[in-house]
Amino acid sequence: MPADAAYRAVRDELRPDVPPQLNLATFITTGMEPEAERLMAEFLYSNTVDGVQPLRTTDLAQRCVAALAELWHAPDPDSAVGTSTGGSSEACMLAGLAMLMRWRSRARGSGERPNLVMSAAVHVCWSKFCAYWDVEARQIPVAEGGFGIDPHTAAELCDTNTIGVVTVLGTTFDGSYEPVQQVCAALDQRRARDGVDVPVHVDAASGGLVAPFLDPALVWDFRLSRVDSINTSGHKYGLVAPGLGWLVWRDPSVVPVELGFSIDYTGGRLSTQTLTFTQPAAPIVAQYYQFLRLGAEGYRAIMQRCRDLARALAAHLNQFHDLRVISSGDDLPVVAFTTGDHASFTVTELADRLRQRGWLVPAYTLPPNQTNVTVARLVCRNDLSDILARRLADDITNAVTALRAYHGASRPRQRCDVLPRGSEAAPMLDEGGD
Ligand SMILES: Cc1ncc(COP(=O)(O)O)c(C=O)c1O
Repeated sequence: MPADAAYRAVRDELRPDVPPQLNLATFITTGMEPEAERLMAEFLYSNTVDGVQPLRTTDLAQRCVAALAELWHAPDPDSAVGTSTGGSSEACMLAGLAMLMRWRSRARGSGERPNLVMSAAVHVCWSKFCAYWDVEARQIPVAEGGFGIDPHTAAELCDTNTIGVVTVLGTTFDGSYEPVQQVCAALDQRRARDGVDVPVHVDAASGGLVAPFLDPALVWDFRLSRVDSINTSGHKYGLVAPGLGWLVWRDPSVVPVELGFSIDYTGGRLSTQTLTFTQPAAPIVAQYYQFLRLGAEGYRAIMQRCRDLARALAAHLNQFHDLRVISSGDDLPVVAFTTGDHASFTVTELADRLRQRGWLVPAYTLPPNQTNVTVARLVCRNDLSDILARRLADDITNAVTALRAYHGASRPRQRCDVLPRGSEAAPMLDEGGD
């Protein structure tokens, strides 16, 4: 097959039917500056384990690790241990393995089964970790109205075979931050009561590069001595194309030696702690570019804009008596909503209508014990422009109007009803500043 025909065949099969910017289901970065793209293209064939001089990409990755360790208040950022990974899932596996190995050395072949405590709102990678390494997953059902892990229940579920407690900043389901500080306090009380002493991992896949900039007073990171490790996804709010994750441990004392391997067959001695061996260097190069290019002020400005957009969209949704907003962008820049008790349509129908207008808005059920609730979620990312957000607000207005008409409006208006298309449908969504 000629090269151009093969190219077209592959491309035609994969041509996305939703432009990346209109995909509000994903947390993944869907746009970077041309300079970052050029760097990724230039380092397309680089492997992190290559012994390329003068600077290996693993050394570049260590600079990123040190930057994250500082951002997350590690006691001594330069001595914090960490690694790049293929994504947060791999980072979570490694963090879980470190906790498991440390428990094993404490348990000294007791024959007991280890367990991990978390809420039911964790990402599926934690269920995978437990299944793959035969760890009992102790998941706390999510409560009605309150989504995060309950600190008291988490502490009570722990015992001497608990390898750790996982807390999430913020959850995949609605973007809310779990109360890490309160979980640590409950675990401190538990240790004081009966000596059960359990470390905490923070899964900050999405929040690790949001909270430090937008919520600096929120204490969730290495300022809490119980937090041993934190992961984040470079390819989410790290603003890098996939796939890149980061894992940082607070200091070398919490990293089991068995986790590190030293090799010398790629040109120079290299220490690795990852599950994979070969790893593309290009996303690391792009992450370093973003850190240099944006700095803390740049990240803060971008995250603030995403949060402002999420809040404006939540305010828009709040106008409709048939919709109930569950999260309004106050934690992650994410809006989750469902339909109210008296709505004549479902969020799944609303998502279908939005799909006809080109938007991908996922509708899914909440975790146990809230599986009877279906929510839709809008992930506001850097490349959701103000103009697109305004278009989305108009499309939501029209979809609600059409669905009410289709099902026959079941109730009189309660709050501000649908605004006509082209009016000030989303007063906070100004067109400027795109
Ligand atoms: C809280 C959380 N943890 C872990 C993951 C897995 O991340 P990745 O897709 O980078 O492997 C996700 C993905 O959305 C997530 O939201």
